Amino acid sequence: MNNTNWIRADGLGQSDCPVFCINIKANGRIKKVTAEVTAIGIYELYVNQKKVGDALFAPGWTSYHNRLQYQTYDITDYFDTEESSVAIQCAPGWAVGYIGHGNTNHMFFDHVSVTAELKLEYLDGRTETYVTGEDWQVCRWDTVRSEFYHGEYRVYGAPLERLGMAVADAAPETRLISDEGCPTREQERVPAVSLIITPKGERVIDFGQNLAGYVEIRIKGEKGERVRISHAEVLDKDGNFYTKNLELAKNINTYVLSGTEDILKPKFSFQGYRYIRLDEYPYENVDLSAFTSVAVYSQMKRTGSFVCGHEKINRLYSNTIWGQRSNFIDIPTDCPQRDERTGWTGDVQVFVRTAAINYDVERFMRKWLRDVMIEQRADGAVTSVVPGVAGRGDRISTAWGDVCTVAPWELYLAYGNKSMLEEFYPMMERWIEYMRREGEEEYLWLGGDHYGDWLASDAILCPEVREGATQTDLIASAFFAYSVSIMVKVCRALGRDSSEYETLYGNIKSTFRRFFMKDGLPTLYPKYDAFSTTRPVKGLTQTSVALVLRFGLYDGEDERKLLTDKLVDMIKENDGKMSTGFVGTPHILHALSENGRSDAAYDLFLCEKNPSWLYSVNQGATTIWEHWDSIKDDGSFWYDVKNSFNHYAYGSVFDWVYSWVLGINVRDDGAGYKTLDIRPVADKRLGFAEGAIDTENGRVGVRWEFADGKLRYTVEIPDGSLAKITLADGSAHECEGGVYTFECLNNLVYRIMEG
Ligand code: BGC
Repeated sequence: MNNTNWIRADGLGQSDCPVFCINIKANGRIKKVTAEVTAIGIYELYVNQKKVGDALFAPGWTSYHNRLQYQTYDITDYFDTEESSVAIQCAPGWAVGYIGHGNTNHMFFDHVSVTAELKLEYLDGRTETYVTGEDWQVCRWDTVRSEFYHGEYRVYGAPLERLGMAVADAAPETRLISDEGCPTREQERVPAVSLIITPKGERVIDFGQNLAGYVEIRIKGEKGERVRISHAEVLDKDGNFYTKNLELAKNINTYVLSGTEDILKPKFSFQGYRYIRLDEYPYENVDLSAFTSVAVYSQMKRTGSFVCGHEKINRLYSNTIWGQRSNFIDIPTDCPQRDERTGWTGDVQVFVRTAAINYDVERFMRKWLRDVMIEQRADGAVTSVVPGVAGRGDRISTAWGDVCTVAPWELYLAYGNKSMLEEFYPMMERWIEYMRREGEEEYLWLGGDHYGDWLASDAILCPEVREGATQTDLIASAFFAYSVSIMVKVCRALGRDSSEYETLYGNIKSTFRRFFMKDGLPTLYPKYDAFSTTRPVKGLTQTSVALVLRFGLYDGEDERKLLTDKLVDMIKENDGKMSTGFVGTPHILHALSENGRSDAAYDLFLCEKNPSWLYSVNQGATTIWEHWDSIKDDGSFWYDVKNSFNHYAYGSVFDWVYSWVLGINVRDDGAGYKTLDIRPVADKRLGFAEGAIDTENGRVGVRWEFADGKLRYTVEIPDGSLAKITLADGSAHECEGGVYTFECLNNLVYRIMEG
């Protein structure tokens, strides 16, 4: 599509939703009609007042200044042989509307604009092309105003009201590309569970499930009557509707009724919520069956499944899935409700492996990673929010920027597609070079402006101090080593020479050890972070030990054992709880399991105190929370504001569940689940565990259960894959595609963890 023929409407307000229309007469018998459309803002295409397709929020969110997607539609079936009306309704969306913490508008462009090209092919071989221009009209229609954060105002039954003619607009400075994402669609439908009259006397409907999407209401009222609903994730400790944590995002939808039966829902907005409050509703009686909560997210194929004999873990699994659904709306976001909903790189760095098990996210993630690559700074720095929104996420932080090495590698492992590595190799290379140049030590990353072990409980002094206690120099240098170790594997997978990265890794490791290790344990390097006055900075923390173990920064088996024992002791000393945040949490269980202490990993996994994964489950969570204790024991909140109940990061615990509970592991040289290490570690507290991943080759599945004093396994290997299955009794079995069953005596169950 050419980047020409843009039109806009004159005199629009910030949130107005103009419709650009034209009538087209067919000059003969039609064979095919296609439309190519895109907008600055978001749009829906209508032919003869019927919406084309079922995608929401086209053209999707990309790094708009660099590239903007357009969509191609076959609209033959919508067309009339005589005359057809074509209408493109627009809203400010991400490009023009309010986006980014602090509720700023015009992040990318200052007004809504649209371009379209329609091609009519006749049976006699003639073609005609219609493009947007000043012969198009501007109208107002049903949706009058809409914003992602603030909700929509929609008048049902409103006719198209002509406002004037479109004005030619300058083409935006960007490149038009054909759609490469996954369309956002309506997905699950969740019925209302109950009507609550709160202590304040407000009518609140509970859908029993936090999610991102919108509420659909079926209603027949008098023409002109209004329905206005507010959204909330939680009730406060008194049982009242609570919206302060949404910060500046209003999340209010207002509808004016047509007088016939209406199905109310927004077109250009979504909310993150579990409850709605009926602010205006024409009836005394509330018929719950008229209310449905509709989940909205990008189309992805579900690939993972998991169930076990522990109901709370099953709920945690469900919460993880809902966390992904709610935050995979065109790009991976931190949360779907408050005035953020942006592409925080650290959150997805942490979650990407789990995401790629739950769903096929290859296409979804590739689109976003292209924007990460495009927005990478010339010096190699990767920002913390992509697409970048001014004033937010331009900090360069370890573990956030590392998404550019971690994500392509994890996606390659999951789907076996080398082009994922080839395409993003230059980005990874530049990020490594950036870290190498940062600070005065070539082989460490000292100084910098990091988020640290974000939200770790070992240093939350007050809600404004969130970086955790672990020294950020240590974290940054450990992640430098980690990213370089990934580069070594990437080079090997691509048949490139890996020796330069091997040497670099060796140098980082020896320098890291000189600066940050003492008597076999992590220690403080008292130059940079140690002088921080805002929080107590420590060298030895659960997170630092876990990172040293995970990233291979120890020296020899004795030190490895010392570190593992220390980690177990530190957890014990902390009342059996972890003290890790965004950086340490994804690694702590792996660090224990990889070093023969799956028993301790299970203890931590099943812990129910605060902080723990199950604490939020006990508090009634239906999604993963931003903070371990977003709701505290006494029912009060961790913080009045900035407290999301739908952040997927800690759901990354499920990559440990797949690796160790089910024991499904892809080998580095068998990407795409071609060669596998299957080594489940059973624990009686789960009773049984069963799960599968639908891979390119077919289904990989594992089930184990304790029965009759024995541990029974069923393992399914897809045709074309090879697996080494290691059981609790230490026996190993090389297997090709097929379904296998095994039995072990359960008193040997932990044996393989001693390795
Ligand atoms: C986001 C996070 C993000 C963080 C940066 C928050 O406001 O919600 O999930 O990673 O900022 O530390």
